[in-house]
Amino acid sequence: MKTAVTIKEVRAQVGEWRKEGLTVGLVPTMGYLHEGHASLVDRAVSMCDRVVASVFVNPTQFGPGEDLETYPRDFARDCALLEEHGCDLVFHPEVSEMYEADAATYVEILSDMPKQLCGKTRPIHFRGVCTVVSKLFNIVQPDKAFFGQKDAQQLAIIRRMVRDLSYGIEIVGCPIIREEDGLAKSSRNTYLNEEERQAALVLSKAVFLGEKMAEEGEQDAGKIVSAMKALIEAEPLARIDYVSAVDAVTMEPVARMEGSVLVAMAVYIGKTRLIDNFIR
Ligand code: PAF
Repeated sequence: MKTAVTIKEVRAQVGEWRKEGLTVGLVPTMGYLHEGHASLVDRAVSMCDRVVASVFVNPTQFGPGEDLETYPRDFARDCALLEEHGCDLVFHPEVSEMYEADAATYVEILSDMPKQLCGKTRPIHFRGVCTVVSKLFNIVQPDKAFFGQKDAQQLAIIRRMVRDLSYGIEIVGCPIIREEDGLAKSSRNTYLNEEERQAALVLSKAVFLGEKMAEEGEQDAGKIVSAMKALIEAEPLARIDYVSAVDAVTMEPVARMEGSVLVAMAVYIGKTRLIDNFIR
C-alpha cells in the first residue's frame, strides 16, 4: 500500500491507474479505523480495481466546542488495517494541503435536509462534510465512493450533493457494523469508560425495539419514537439529543411508517454523543 500526503501524489497515482483502464473506489474516513471502516474497504475492493482511502480529520465539519482536538488518531494502526483489507493508496494530507489559509468556498445544500436531525445541534457540520467530500471527489475522481449507513443523514446528503452537482460517481451505502452486544462501531466509542460503555447499549436496544415494532406492523411513527425514547430515558447516563422518524431520502419528518423511513437518534452517554438508526 502506498501513502500520499499531497494532492499531486494522489493525482499522479490515480492517473497511472486510469491509463491502465482500472476502476477506482474511494473510502473517505477520519481515521481511528474500526471494523465498520474495514467493511467499507472490503466492499470497495470487491467492486473496484483499485481502492483509495483518505484519513483526514476534517476541521470544517467540527463546530466550536466539539471534539476536533481530542478526536482519536492512530495513523500507524489505520495503515495496518487498510493494508490488511487490500487498500492500494492511503491519502493522509495535512490541513494546509486541503485548505488554503484563506479558503472561502464551501459546498452546502440549501434545503432543510442538513438542518434536520444532527443538523439541529451541529449547524455547520454538513457544510463541512459536503465541502471535504467534494474536494476528495475532485482530487481522486473515483468511479465509486463508499459510506456507512450509520451516518444515515450524511449518506443521504452526499447522494443529494452528487445528484445536484452532477458528479459521475456511484455512492455505495454499506450496512452498520455492530459489536457483538449490539453497539454500533464508532471511533467515538473509545471515549466511553466501562460504565458508559454498558449504558451505551441503550442505543442499539432502542433501535432493535423500533425495528421490531415496525416489523410487527406499527404504522404510527410517533408511537415507535415514543417507545424508543422511553427505553433510552430509563438509562440514567443517557441524555437524548433527538430520536426522530424522517423520510429516508429527504430527511423531512414523517408521521407514518410509509415508504422508506429513517428512524435515527443521537444520544449523549456522559459527554460522548453517539448515533444509531434503522431504515424501514
Ligand atoms: O464519516 C466520516 O468519517 C466523515 O464525515 C467523512 C465522510 C470522512 C468526511 O470527513
